[in-house]
Amino acid sequence: MRSLLALSLLVACGEPEPKPPEESDPGPLCETGLDVTWEGWAAGFVLSQCQPCHASETPNRYGAPVSVSFDTLEDCRAQAGAIEDAVLTRASMPPAGGITDDERALLARWLDCGLP
Ligand code: HEC
Repeated sequence: MRSLLALSLLVACGEPEPKPPEESDPGPLCETGLDVTWEGWAAGFVLSQCQPCHASETPNRYGAPVSVSFDTLEDCRAQAGAIEDAVLTRASMPPAGGITDDERALLARWLDCGLP
């Protein structure tokens, strides 16, 4: 909850957010330090959009399978294909939706770059 608050404060203060990627060769972008990373973006996205149900310590999983938890970057890397399938291909996660086009593009970039 504290990190969520920090995140919204960050946004409210007008700190730069990662830009959604252009439709182009992903290679060079993936290698710049400014691109979408776990610390820079994905951790906050997973915390707010997935961990309410998909964390091993969450008080209520709302039916999310125990085997599908995203506590750490390693968890996400191990299930990258399932994340892509559920969020980007089938758009079945999060169940109530609420992911913006920008977030979708950033997630695609993060996955394409190998979850840096
Ligand atoms: C409100 C709770 C909730 C949130 C938030 C949520 N999930 Fe889920 N998730 C579930 C439930 C419930 C299932 C089991 C669905 C089923 O069996 O049909 C599930 C299943 C999954 C699965 C297993 C494959 C599948 O589609 O059944 C993946 C992968 C997944 N979620 C990824 C995510 C990701 C990534 C996010 C964040 C972007 C997310 N979920 C957010 C509740 C949630």
